[in-house]
Amino acid sequence: MTRPSPTQPATARQSRTQTAVPTHIAIIMDGNGRWAQSRHQPRTTGHRAGISSVRAVIDHLAKSGVHYVTLFAFSTENWSRPLEEVSVLLELLGEAVRDETAELHQNDVRILHLGRLDRLSPKLRQEIQRAIELTKDNTGLTLSVAFDYGGRDEIVEATRRIVAAGIPAEEIDESLFGHYLQTPTIPDPDLVIRTGGEFRISNFLLWQSAYSEFYSTPVHWPDFDEQEMERALEAFRLRKRRFGSLSPEE
Ligand code: FPP
Repeated sequence: MTRPSPTQPATARQSRTQTAVPTHIAIIMDGNGRWAQSRHQPRTTGHRAGISSVRAVIDHLAKSGVHYVTLFAFSTENWSRPLEEVSVLLELLGEAVRDETAELHQNDVRILHLGRLDRLSPKLRQEIQRAIELTKDNTGLTLSVAFDYGGRDEIVEATRRIVAAGIPAEEIDESLFGHYLQTPTIPDPDLVIRTGGEFRISNFLLWQSAYSEFYSTPVHWPDFDEQEMERALEAFRLRKRRFGSLSPEE
């Protein structure tokens, strides 16, 4: 048996023997704009249509035995998009929190937010915080919404907090650093899915995705449904995860 390295996260060690269904799936929901433009509609129509895919995918994954789903809804770089598009994305987040929290809570879903809250309006911040508080003891699916999230921002912020806590350099290791990130209660993603055909990580979960399997599909997010998710899960089942080591037959 290969001994896991002491610095390897617990989740990576577990995943070695549990590759059938990913424990944690993280999704870069790309292609909304192109989906809308190909229908001669404004880009924001694509974001609105993307909400249906979010619902369908969460329902499907909750039934498939996946325990953690993380959605990249807005990056720290997305503020540079046209004001109207940014406003619609903020609006959609607010609507989703207001309209979906009660049902998610009923379904035992724990809601988390990754990223910065300080640049959101006080009202939206409060709504998000209320949803997190309401669902904090739920033990079903953990749904993390990355909104105003950037992997680099998260790493810089963690470093600042470590320095502010006065932790001596020799005590800083991967495990300690991981605890200062925004994901101390979430295992690293086993699978990162990107829709819309690109093969980029785009500042998403930079630290946490070190050993994630990556799946890219040309399907635009509003067209990504249960069947497309099954394709991604099947691709994952065929992957051999080695975490930098060798598999027994090699
Ligand atoms: C990328 O597509 C998508 C986004 C920047 C936003 C994704 C947001 C949603 C699906 C709705 C909000 C979700 C929640 C959970 C509140 P793009 O606009 O970059 O598409 P393009 O590459 O075709 O231009």
